[in-house]
Amino acid sequence: MPHVVVVGAGVIGLSAALRIQAEGHAVTIVARDFPSGFETIDPVTQINFTSPWGGAHNRLVPPTNATEVREHAMSLTTFAHMRATAAASPEAGITFMKGIEYLEAPGPAYRALTDENAAHDLGMEGFRMLRREEMPEGVTFGCEYDTWCVNPMVYCGFMLRRFVFQGGRIVKKELRDPVEVWDMEGLQASVDVLVNASGNGFGDPDVFITRGQTCLVANLCPATVTRQNADGSWTFCVPRNFEGGTIIGGTKEPDNWDPNPSLEVREKLLRNFAATYPQILGKDGKFTVIRDIVGRRPTRRGGMRLEKEIVSGNKCIVHAYGLGGRGYELSWGVADGVADLLKAHLGSGSSVTSKL
Ligand SMILES: Cc1cc2nc3c(=O)[nH]c(=O)nc-3n(C[C@H](O)[C@H](O)[C@H](O)COP(=O)(O)OP(=O)(O)OC[C@H]3O[C@@H](n4cnc5c(N)ncnc54)[C@H](O)[C@@H]3O)c2cc1C
Ligand SMILES: *[C@@H]1O[C@H](CO)[C@@H](O)[C@H](O)[C@H]1NC(C)=O
Ligand SMILES: *[C@@H]1O[C@H](CO)[C@@H](O)[C@H](O)[C@H]1NC(C)=O
Ligand SMILES: *[C@@H]1O[C@H](CO)[C@@H](O)[C@H](O)[C@H]1NC(C)=O
Repeated sequence: MPHVVVVGAGVIGLSAALRIQAEGHAVTIVARDFPSGFETIDPVTQINFTSPWGGAHNRLVPPTNATEVREHAMSLTTFAHMRATAAASPEAGITFMKGIEYLEAPGPAYRALTDENAAHDLGMEGFRMLRREEMPEGVTFGCEYDTWCVNPMVYCGFMLRRFVFQGGRIVKKELRDPVEVWDMEGLQASVDVLVNASGNGFGDPDVFITRGQTCLVANLCPATVTRQNADGSWTFCVPRNFEGGTIIGGTKEPDNWDPNPSLEVREKLLRNFAATYPQILGKDGKFTVIRDIVGRRPTRRGGMRLEKEIVSGNKCIVHAYGLGGRGYELSWGVADGVADLLKAHLGSGSSVTSKL
């Protein structure tokens, strides 16, 4: 049985590991950070572990180019997986609800949306254009559709438990060099294929971070709401549920490495969201703040890296990193891509399989 080592225990590594397990392979996850209770994850030493700091919701985006067409297909794959998982495992931390989109200055792809093409061409369930009186001031386009949100650490913790329950092994270790994995001590068997789900994949000159500051509040919200402002800024909420509160966001700041949240930004985010969706405020007309959050989206020029690389003659690495702000919503599409690359490699009669 081939032994696959997955480097990384964020949403991408965990999804890929479960997907590979389903193919019948032995899988070990090696990572510096593993999911645990959100409340105990350290905002300073674990800031580079992005999965705890994400929202995380699924937003369907009308695609405008080939990259976005591929990502849209991945988001639909993930949507179907989330629907099945939520039904079978309520403890997974997934909630289905309406996704509401408000745009101040919609581009042509949004303006071309109709109830019919959104359903038939884009696979958006429960799609409906909003009427003018349903939209806040300043918004010129609005729609809603069925979507999902996850409580990130509840969901990732669920995947980790399932992985180990099904026989997966884990090693908590920081790697200095990927070559360490090929002869790593403590693994049960030699390694046939390495999956690089290290998030930032630093060392790749195309990778950069996009800082996001959000604020976690105790207020509940029945929908996930996203407003794209004319100046390029974003106003959104992501209900985490499962007593995880609601995320109010958020900033998108390329190459900003500041780990400290700004109180001024927090106040602006809360003010803007309340103006967009006043129903979020409690009876007292207030937000109940739990904490500020700063995360680093692992972004890559040209989009995610999902490809196979042969190193030192015959060793195979499958790269799966650089998901930017879409790691959760594309996760099962990426996991399928990893499984396909693996199949192509193991089925190719390479020295890896012939040795087994
Ligand atoms: C504010 C904010 C809001 C977001 N909202 C959403 C959203 O609503 N929807 C959505 O889909 N996405 C959202 N995202 C993006 C999403 O969180 C990321 O795309 C996703 O978490 C990336 O997951 P990953 O598994 O690739 O990386 P990570 O979660 O960073 O995991 C990387 C893994 O690799 C390990 N690793 C790295 N280097 C090493 C090493 N040298 N040795 C050993 N282990 C190593 C780490 O320890 C970790 O286990 C948001 C992000 C932010 C910051
Ligand atoms: C986060 O990653 C950057 C870039 O690799 C590194 O310089 C920094 O030390 C890391 N921070 C932590 C807290 O590990
Ligand atoms: C696709 O379109 C998006 C949104 O306009 C843009 O950010 C991205 O760079 C484009 N990608 C390519 C490969 O053209
Ligand atoms: C993952 O890919 C990045 C970018 O190519 C590289 O810097 C890193 O060393 C790789 N890690 C592993 C474990 O292969």
